[in-house]
Amino acid sequence: MQTAATKLSKEIKTLGLEQYTLELETDGITIVPPEVTGVTDKVLDRCTEVLLKRFTEMTGGCPISIKEGPKGELTWPEGTRSQLRDENEPPLPTQMLIQQLLQLDRCFRDLAVNPVVDALIDHAMGPISVLGGKARRLSSTNSFVKWQGDYGYGKYLGLHCDQGANPLPWGHTAMTANATWCLTDYTKEDGALAYVPGSHKLNAHPAQPAAAKQAVAAEAPRGSVLIFVGSTWHGAYPKLTPGLRLNCVSYYRHVSTLPQENLKFTMRDEPWEDCDNPEMMRELLGFDDKFPYEVQTQAVPQLTAAI
Ligand SMILES: [Fe+2]
Repeated sequence: MQTAATKLSKEIKTLGLEQYTLELETDGITIVPPEVTGVTDKVLDRCTEVLLKRFTEMTGGCPISIKEGPKGELTWPEGTRSQLRDENEPPLPTQMLIQQLLQLDRCFRDLAVNPVVDALIDHAMGPISVLGGKARRLSSTNSFVKWQGDYGYGKYLGLHCDQGANPLPWGHTAMTANATWCLTDYTKEDGALAYVPGSHKLNAHPAQPAAAKQAVAAEAPRGSVLIFVGSTWHGAYPKLTPGLRLNCVSYYRHVSTLPQENLKFTMRDEPWEDCDNPEMMRELLGFDDKFPYEVQTQAVPQLTAAI
């Protein structure tokens, strides 16, 4: 059987991604620059434009810019609860998640089928041993719109593992993996991703307070993509500066893991084919997966003659 640590795919070799594969294996995260993924300024600009427009629509008309952030006062709807473990009350709104990006614009569909990202995600998840084919699927696509403030991550930086819903013990195969495209420069002061290098090898949830002390910032220029596996301890630093930290995330799952968004249904009547690689998109959305089925799929023997 192929194991991720011992075998490199044809795509990894052809695209010259050995260095990034090694980083992913060693640190649980790799940062791939735009000249390697081939992402263009045009695509990054389009993603930014669509997300800012969507933010204004979703917030009931709050204008927003990269330099200044939201230009109006925002409050959470009544009854909103914090999703962070160490907070009961919701934090001040200094971050918002825009979900279902695939449905918004082709630029997000193109990023989701980027061949460099796909090769690295495939490396982390490997093949489906019984049914054949690649195990990686899309789980969801989101954007974290983050502006000045703490958002309640606190002293422990909100460190967690994305595959935390999967029961322990975890193995070498990633059950989820995250490709975060930076639409603004990522620096510690600007609220970059925090992570603990090599933490994925522990195959365990973060142990605090030691974890927060070991964390470092994933600093990278705009256009870079951060790729990390679901067992890597990660969170975020507070944004200390004005303006936005903006990203768009393609979040992947192993075929055996439940998706965040039921893409097989939500994308059925959406324009998923108008991207750089419709065949890959079809596979990533799971349109042809045997599971979960909706009708009887196994053959039923039939009576040959009336009795
Ligand atoms: Fe996470």
